[in-house]
Amino acid sequence: MHKRRRWAGRMKSMRRSTIREILKLTKQPGMISFAGGLPAPELFPLKAFSEAMEKTLQQDGAAALQYDVTEGYGPLKEFLCGWLSKQGVACNPENMMFTSGSQQALDLIGRVFFDPGDRILVENPTYLGAIQAFNAYEVEYLSAPMDEHGMIPDVASRLAKKRRPKIGYFVPTFQNPSGITMTLERRLALLKLAREQHFPIVEDDPYSYLRFRGERVPSLHQLAKGKNVIYVSTFSKLLSPGIRLGFVVAEPDIITSLVLAKQAADLQPNSLIQRAVYHYCEAGHLDLHIPTITEAYRVRANQMMTAIREFFPPGIRCVEPEGGMFIWCTLPAKISAMRLFKEAVKHNVAYVAGTVFHPHGDGRNTLRLNFTNSTAEQIRTGIQRLGDVFREALV
Ligand SMILES: Cc1ncc(COP(=O)(O)O)c(C=O)c1O
Repeated sequence: MHKRRRWAGRMKSMRRSTIREILKLTKQPGMISFAGGLPAPELFPLKAFSEAMEKTLQQDGAAALQYDVTEGYGPLKEFLCGWLSKQGVACNPENMMFTSGSQQALDLIGRVFFDPGDRILVENPTYLGAIQAFNAYEVEYLSAPMDEHGMIPDVASRLAKKRRPKIGYFVPTFQNPSGITMTLERRLALLKLAREQHFPIVEDDPYSYLRFRGERVPSLHQLAKGKNVIYVSTFSKLLSPGIRLGFVVAEPDIITSLVLAKQAADLQPNSLIQRAVYHYCEAGHLDLHIPTITEAYRVRANQMMTAIREFFPPGIRCVEPEGGMFIWCTLPAKISAMRLFKEAVKHNVAYVAGTVFHPHGDGRNTLRLNFTNSTAEQIRTGIQRLGDVFREALV
């Protein structure tokens, strides 16, 4: 008898997030984890946000608990467009929508753009959550290698000309996982390639506002004057990831398609949260809060780099970031970061082995360290433990 298949074919390409699995391991007592990508919880603006919540319920009343439009709450869009424009991301409310975190924006982009077998040009490594989101649409990855200046344009160009991607997806500033920022020159080369090869670019930018050193590099969106670039960002790293509020800035026809997809997915963004975030921003807290977190992250990144220089054996390269939340390290070619992860966990310290960020499973000797979610003492002790593990492996 013909047996009916239980799951849809696309489930084959959907994988559990290795990071979420690792996070479970890191809950064991005494563990120092550099594995997650969590903001510092002690810096969450609890007082200002609770005042904003109270104001929302008192001032906005029932509207804060009612259904609302899919595109998002108008006054917050107005505020955010003004704020983003000052940062070089020009937009007006018709060019903007809110999503449930920027992760949902990636899923919606997948829904509206991809047919099975479509190709997507990405940096190698790239954001794991994007791989997860796009896998559901059964895409093929064209992964272009990076160096410390970002994606290498010549290789990307060869790949794109030969394999014709439907879309390009990039995290050009303080990338997750590598912390690397694409230089201005390479941004311009990428935009030229996208223009010539007629593919839109998704610029995923949760981190550029967390710069603690160096000069700001204009966003792809800014350089392209908004043309053909879908700009995705989020309040997750600026305020709190738990509120699940992301946003997209794109040309109006793209916003219309994404809004249709969002309507089918979950009707609308959370009314209460959008309004609370509006009151929070309106009162001036966003601009006050960002320098506070950025300064704290600068200190932690410095502490981690200092400890790396002191405790890691020679032969391990780590990229010093100018912002964001991550430090990327490359071990000597023959060493597997995944294998050493098990050793590291025995020593009560965790990181993420870099191979999970490579769509084709390469990068075996790379790893990602998060510096925002640990204290100075944890950073020093954890890096010392890792140094011991690496030294033993390198002997
Ligand atoms: C590059 C990148 N994009 C998107 C996200 C998703 O963030 P959220 O859904 O919380 O906005 C993250 C989270 O770590 C990220 O690093």
